[in-house]
Amino acid sequence: MKAILCNEYGPIDGLTYADLAEPEATGSKVVIKAKAIGVNYPDGLLVQGLYQAKPELPFVPGMEMAGVIESVGPDAKHLKPGMRVVATSGTGAFAEKGVFAEAQCIPLPDGVDDADACALMCGFGTSHHALKQRGHLKPGETLVVAGAAGATGLAAVQIGKAMGATVIAIASTDEKREAARQAGADHVIGYENLKETMRELAGKKGVDVIFDPVGGDTFDTLVRTMGRNGRYLVVGFAAGRIPQLPVNLALVKEFSLVGVFWGAFTQHEPAVYADNVRELFGWYREGKVKPLISARHPLSEAPAVLKQLMERGVSGKIVLEP
Ligand SMILES: NC(=O)c1ccc[n+]([C@@H]2O[C@H](COP(=O)([O-])OP(=O)(O)OC[C@H]3O[C@@H](n4cnc5c(N)ncnc54)[C@H](OP(=O)(O)O)[C@@H]3O)[C@@H](O)[C@H]2O)c1
Repeated sequence: MKAILCNEYGPIDGLTYADLAEPEATGSKVVIKAKAIGVNYPDGLLVQGLYQAKPELPFVPGMEMAGVIESVGPDAKHLKPGMRVVATSGTGAFAEKGVFAEAQCIPLPDGVDDADACALMCGFGTSHHALKQRGHLKPGETLVVAGAAGATGLAAVQIGKAMGATVIAIASTDEKREAARQAGADHVIGYENLKETMRELAGKKGVDVIFDPVGGDTFDTLVRTMGRNGRYLVVGFAAGRIPQLPVNLALVKEFSLVGVFWGAFTQHEPAVYADNVRELFGWYREGKVKPLISARHPLSEAPAVLKQLMERGVSGKIVLEP
């Protein structure tokens, strides 16, 4: 079968489109034939050796695959060949077929499309966990979303609206701002004059919750707009710089800086994660959330797509379709 292979940590161009042996389902593992594969920012960090985890080389990158179960190992308990599932893992999804543990697979309800299922995992899953368990976002509160046209950002806009917040979305281009508007944001702004614009929108009261996958200068400005009892959600550092916080700011405004790590959450709190997935699929079926799948590419184009994503060139979600 065909797969994308990371032979050494380094530039994304070093990824190869390779022939690998057909995978086998052993133990309680299952083999999935891919229909859609999600491309995520952390995939780009991982293959460059810039992520928290460093899998043994060579490895197949990719953390989301939706498709049909082709075979199951002798110890598999719940899953059967022919079932539609979406699977998440640290690696292994950029391939025509993937091997996943049963526990990494979620059966797909009727009506949940394969590409959307991928988007509902890391992108929507992170934002949902961030706003619900970490941010405790309440109806009527003000939510600011940075990087609002990205995979996690666009999801945060939609989920923020589903949870009853007033959403201020920040994005860098007209096209991205239009995507955030379509996703339901109440106010859509750019990064220019961010301090002044935020002062106008948030006033003296300040902001209740900030969802920040960008970091860098954006963090430095936004953290000064926090309101009393606010929650600043540290999601990622797409701008490249991990910012520093003068902690007196947290003292004066009595706000909290809250870390978000979706991958760790799924492993440490599987029951809460399962509840989140149920709620998210429910919102999807009710039309409250709808991922923006902005492009579909063949598997062989994974390196080019990943580069485009890391270089700020994507709105919403891109999927690979083998
Ligand atoms: N904590 C977690 O559990 C978790 C889970 C998933 C992802 N993440 C992290 O969150 C961050 C964003 O992930 P994502 O999936 O939303 O990625 P994405 O789809 O690429 O979106 C990131 C957004 O960041 C903005 N950005 C600002 N400066 C940028 C720069 N120099 N380069 C690239 N983008 C820049 C871009 O929007 P503008 O052009 O509008 O500024 C872009 O839309 C990444 O650091 C990722 O590793 C964390």
